[in-house]
Amino acid sequence: MKPQEEARHAGAGISASAAEGKTSAPLFDPESLAVSLKRGVRLHETDGRAVLVDADGVALALPLPPETRRIFLSALDEGACTTNELGDAVLHTAPSTDAASLYYVLAQLERGRWLRYALRSRGRNTATLEPFSRRFDFADAPLTGRCRLSRFVCLRREGDDIALESPLGHGRLLLHTSDAAALAASLSRPLSFEEMRVSHPALVPKEIAALLAMMRSVGALFPCDAEGRIPEDGSEPLRQWEFHDLLFHSRSRQGRHGNPVGGSCPFLGEILPLAVVKRPMSAERVPLHRPETGEMRADFFELAEMRRSLRTRGERALRLKELGTFLHFTGGVREILPASPEKGYWYEASLRPCAGSGAIHELEYYLTVARCDGLPPGLYRYDPLAHALERLEADEKQLEKLLKGAARAMRGARCDVLITLAARFQRVSWQYRSIAYSLLLKDVGAVFQQMYLAATALNLAPCALGAGDSDDFAETAGLDYFSETSVGEFALSGR
Ligand SMILES: Cc1cc2nc3c(=O)[nH]c(=O)nc-3n(C[C@H](O)[C@H](O)[C@H](O)COP(=O)(O)O)c2cc1C
Repeated sequence: MKPQEEARHAGAGISASAAEGKTSAPLFDPESLAVSLKRGVRLHETDGRAVLVDADGVALALPLPPETRRIFLSALDEGACTTNELGDAVLHTAPSTDAASLYYVLAQLERGRWLRYALRSRGRNTATLEPFSRRFDFADAPLTGRCRLSRFVCLRREGDDIALESPLGHGRLLLHTSDAAALAASLSRPLSFEEMRVSHPALVPKEIAALLAMMRSVGALFPCDAEGRIPEDGSEPLRQWEFHDLLFHSRSRQGRHGNPVGGSCPFLGEILPLAVVKRPMSAERVPLHRPETGEMRADFFELAEMRRSLRTRGERALRLKELGTFLHFTGGVREILPASPEKGYWYEASLRPCAGSGAIHELEYYLTVARCDGLPPGLYRYDPLAHALERLEADEKQLEKLLKGAARAMRGARCDVLITLAARFQRVSWQYRSIAYSLLLKDVGAVFQQMYLAATALNLAPCALGAGDSDDFAETAGLDYFSETSVGEFALSGR
């Protein structure tokens, strides 16, 4: 039986108006929640002055005398008091405390979203709400009628808890009990408060009301109309967002999550960073033509005017010399920048023709060659330091599958060489938090544009491709999907 059918069944005693959702949930008071400091906040004390610093380095002065500060922070650490109880407890233990300063600090902590809020019921922690920013607000309006979860909600395990997150809100919820998680899961369908009360007898009504208010506060739960529709169902912008895209967007930009962002080397001292240039994958090498400095000339403005995606291949095949020149100007290493921990450079980097986030250059170029003068068909990896191709063992049928996939993406047109950009993911995630994957996609964009311009200058036929099969590619090239696989493709042909 489905949850709400069960609810209706079990709740035979519920009045008709309650089943229709006309009974309100008990009012929720955010001030009844116990407060503690958000994750990752540290206290810095110098010359008797104290400052709280969060994981992103944002600081907040704590202008309280040392003894008051100690009592205040230890009460926050315990996380068992509401804000009012906290103020009373500090004033009781340290009566000389200036109440105005104390409440000023508390107000600053609340306004700046330095606190997390725990729902305690019958002696146990049921849920904790973590606001992300000043844009967060408690939804404390009474809930009448039915409500249901947004389709953007994500429920996942974090430690021993279930994290409930929604890119529509400015906070998230950690559910500490299976009863709380079950309540959240049951809201995939529209439910009224009475229906929830009946189908979740392990939760007391006030607990249900508080959980619902917390879910509404983090942009996860919305009141619905008689057809079970919530506001996002009628919103043209939201209807056009896919779940994973909006979650990725909100989590890889700043503002809608509380995770550390940027270059913080989270694995320093624990895992060694990957080498700046991948170790050779094969001993069978083809040296490439490297143009002399100044040998090639082109007018940038003319190239910018001429650049087009060309989905035709010419009578003549791409030539090995052209390929060498193309790779030199799109991928060849110009300079290796050694790691220099004393200067804060924790990993080896390099300079190449394309800009690359953090000079990390995680993108490997693999070439599936169908037709190239001077180069037998097959799979190759570009060695950007030696400026050479390494021939790799690969199944012919699998290579043909990659080429056919590219042709499908180009309205049936075949290409001479399919360049697959594969990311060595851990090069980026060793250094960056939250934004690693978004950065590498931006790196793909930078490479694509450089490839377009280089191909145009060489009078070749270029076309970027949007969506290859990363599993197929990993299998064909003998790579581990989670360590390195394709994130973009580029078709190149002679004209
Ligand atoms: C990220 C990206 C992905 C692309 N994916 C494809 C693709 O899968 N198939 C295709 O034929 N063209 C693809 N293109 C080429 C675009 O369709 C093309 O740039 C667009 O139609 C404009 O034409 P132009 O490049 O000649 O100016 C892609 C371009 C980019 C930048």
